[in-house]
Amino acid sequence: MIQLNINGSSWQVDVESDTPLLWVIREQVGLTGTKYGCGVAQCGACTVHIDGEPVRSCSMPVSAAVGKRITTIEGLSRGSSHPVQRAWAALDVPQCGYCQSGQIMAAVALLSKNPQPTDKDIDAAMTNICRCGTYQRVRAAVHMAAGTAKGGGSIIHMAADTARADDFAAHVDHPTVA
Ligand code: FES
Ligand code: FES
Repeated sequence: MIQLNINGSSWQVDVESDTPLLWVIREQVGLTGTKYGCGVAQCGACTVHIDGEPVRSCSMPVSAAVGKRITTIEGLSRGSSHPVQRAWAALDVPQCGYCQSGQIMAAVALLSKNPQPTDKDIDAAMTNICRCGTYQRVRAAVHMAAGTAKGGGSIIHMAADTARADDFAAHVDHPTVA
């Protein structure tokens, strides 16, 4: 048996020690917000936090997470109330949505280290792949959550203002990085 701390709860799972953490999270624990994309640490769909650091759980053996604090998208907030989740909703970032839990987990980790990232910082930290091409809105939402949106203001002020959010997204003047 392997004991894990996931989203503040203790879990005992009966798996081989080299089982990828992603499969334990999804299949043993039943938290399916963390997605499988490539399986080889490239796309970021499987991103979770281990002691606050973003990790690609498809490529981490479950044994490496023992004794550490694992956070998945389900554990980020109650009712999707985290400022990053609110920015994502305000700017309608998701298209198909498949990559977005990983994108949000990467963004939260970035902002916890760098509360006011530049576009360059965002591009360096957010290497998650989105087949729907939402990169421009991902970047805009990170700025919104950080309160570095053009015209000032933070998600606290902007979340309920859909028209302003749309206007903000439309005026992000940096090209998509595919
Ligand atoms: S599924 Fe883990 S990085 Fe793609
Ligand atoms: S929103 Fe579809 S893959 Fe990113």
